[in-house]
Amino acid sequence: MPHNKAIAMHPDFDRLPIRRHTDSLKWHRYGDALPLWVADMDFPAPEPVLAALHERVAQGVFGYGAPPDKLSEVLCARMADRYRWAVVPEQIVYLPGLVCGLNIACRAVGEPGDEVLVQTPVYPPFLSAPEHQERRLVTAELSTELYDGRLYYTFDDDAFAAAMSPRTRLFILCNPHNPIGRVFTVNELTRLAAHCERHDLTICSDEIHCDLLLDGRQHTPLAALNPDIAWRCITLMAPSKTFNIPGLGASFAIIQNPQLRRRFKQALRGIVPDVNVLGLTAALAAYQHGDEWLQSLLRYLTANRDYVVNFALQHLPGVRVTVPEATYLAWLDCWGTAIPGNPHEFFLQNAGVALNDGAAFGPGGEQCVRLNFGCPQALLAEALECMQGAMADLPLPAFEEEDAWPQSLN
Ligand SMILES: Cc1ncc(COP(=O)(O)O)c(C=O)c1O
Repeated sequence: MPHNKAIAMHPDFDRLPIRRHTDSLKWHRYGDALPLWVADMDFPAPEPVLAALHERVAQGVFGYGAPPDKLSEVLCARMADRYRWAVVPEQIVYLPGLVCGLNIACRAVGEPGDEVLVQTPVYPPFLSAPEHQERRLVTAELSTELYDGRLYYTFDDDAFAAAMSPRTRLFILCNPHNPIGRVFTVNELTRLAAHCERHDLTICSDEIHCDLLLDGRQHTPLAALNPDIAWRCITLMAPSKTFNIPGLGASFAIIQNPQLRRRFKQALRGIVPDVNVLGLTAALAAYQHGDEWLQSLLRYLTANRDYVVNFALQHLPGVRVTVPEATYLAWLDCWGTAIPGNPHEFFLQNAGVALNDGAAFGPGGEQCVRLNFGCPQALLAEALECMQGAMADLPLPAFEEEDAWPQSLN
């Protein structure tokens, strides 16, 4: 067998695969810097996915593909088992990427000039998709609480309601949220859905990170709250982040309202290609046989999350950090530090560490950076130590008394 069976038994997340000078965007863009930016992880895909891909390549024929019925069956069973959400195959629309789904949702809902609402800070394509599709972007900031150097973001009813106008047609939700790592509670989801019902908005719910929940948390798809909400929802999901196969471009939308689904399919016609055959193969293998690997991954990511949080609190003076409930992305707010200028540039130039610039995540992201901890812990530790070194000569920030971290958030 060309693949390594041992990986199935004990995935070795401590081993860094060689990615520099390969075709990796993550390891190429910032030269020699340690890359803790774009959301892909430095781990090989699960062994059953590699095995299925080897087998598919060995077949040697790469004609046009068609999503296997088995994949839709597996997805419907997954929604039922995990969320008690009844989905049938015809409600699934396959897509070659989630960003493409965000753009198609903007194009399918409303008319040019209508408004699309997003909560910031947020994954940058949420901010660009509306304007790419001749819609107007409107933003509502999440609210922030600060406990003992740790940042906690919540849904802000007032900001959300104030951002809407009679031209607002679509709300794009990110849950779990990139970059702030929240898994919104059922209470928060219910409140935001109620605002959308009141204003008759369609909701595009990007749930790409729904399998990457830490500390045993449970994901609730917005559409699973109740059938009325499902009727106004386009839910976007993918195996790409979960099983680290984003370069294979396989994802899907679940749209239960047939009219909305028709509009969505019409908006992608002639523009959006089908999912490629390797993406389909990997998606099926991942969902059928990847969950054991996923459980090991979640344990490793939890340890890395704790490492980042503790390190930031102890060694990066003035940096406020989220405690991600999901994803492998931490958000570091540098307002309270003496970093001169833009923190992304500062860490790139002075620490040799490439992070994402928070300014690209919209209002509330200025002076922040996003850090990807989906990598071997040795690499993470090295990068954090470089960041500590870069901050060593900065004046220490004034100490401010803050409330303790509430037990209820653990
Ligand atoms: C919330 C969110 N949506 C979409 C994507 C990208 O999806 P895709 O690569 O399938 O376009 C990402 C990648 O980081 C993401 O975090």
